Amino acid sequence: MFPLWPISASQMGDQVDALYLFLLAVSTAVTLAIFCLIIFFIFRYRHSRHPVAEQVGGSIPLEITWILVPFGIFMIFFIWGANIYIAEATPPKNSIQIYVVAKQWMWKIQHEQGQREINVLHVPMDRDVRLTMISQDVIHSFWVPEFRIKADVLPGRYTTLWFHATKPGTYHLFCSEYCGTHHSGMIGQVVVMDPVKFQAWLTGGGEMGSFAATGQKLFQALGCTSCHRFDTQGRGPNLVGVYGKPVLLSDGSTAMADEAYVRQAILNPGAQIVAGFQPIMPSSQGIVTEDQMLSLVAYVKSLSTPEQDEPVSNRPPVPKSAGTPEVQ
Ligand code: CUA
Repeated sequence: MFPLWPISASQMGDQVDALYLFLLAVSTAVTLAIFCLIIFFIFRYRHSRHPVAEQVGGSIPLEITWILVPFGIFMIFFIWGANIYIAEATPPKNSIQIYVVAKQWMWKIQHEQGQREINVLHVPMDRDVRLTMISQDVIHSFWVPEFRIKADVLPGRYTTLWFHATKPGTYHLFCSEYCGTHHSGMIGQVVVMDPVKFQAWLTGGGEMGSFAATGQKLFQALGCTSCHRFDTQGRGPNLVGVYGKPVLLSDGSTAMADEAYVRQAILNPGAQIVAGFQPIMPSSQGIVTEDQMLSLVAYVKSLSTPEQDEPVSNRPPVPKSAGTPEVQ
């Protein structure tokens, strides 16, 4: 049969389709009602039956009805749509984290365990997967029609997407924002695998070290360790346990230590000074690429996420909750 829309291969897909079908049904019903009434009125009030026009006065009950009924229907659209929007915008905790860097004209994918791929994204079935995305040039947009998800990928700012694939298979990955000459060629595949096979795939690439370990090496190479020490003696804050928590700043405000905060702290350290420290950190603007920046973000995260699969070698001791087995 001729397919009207792509198959739904994610949890969110069925919800989006249900809402879309509802919108379609309501629109069709309203359109049909209007057409039928037009035909009916043409005959009912034709000139031979009604030679003289009649003035009709207002009707309060009628006006209240036609205000309240559409209002109710639109509120259903709004509440249903807002619920899906919020669900799509809120990645579940313990999602698998994958990093995406877009550039003219390719998708660079980085897994936490170290695997890199270009224009192909391997993910396990039946798991929540969270993407942190950024562009190193112009605006792109990450779109997987079969998952019913899409988000702009912007230069200078992280955006996130998440999905929960429900069917194994290979699906389209499109760039859906015009980004230059080869925009139409900026396509790829999302390969949804059985979780066991995915685990084998993850470990199949040989020893490459986790992404956080890459970040740790860069952290040392850039000399960050001379100030960000793992005790309280450093000239910069100790970064252990910082990620994911509110940070008190020197102006008395607090900031949430998320991916955007870490990126900002590296690129533009003077913008948010942690309380108790001097604004002495140099900017890394133009020194680290977006890929490297993500590895630094992954490293800072790894100092606070004990449930990470692979511990970063030589990393300082983390609080005692470490080693909690990951709930599958
Ligand atoms: Cu990238 Cu269009």
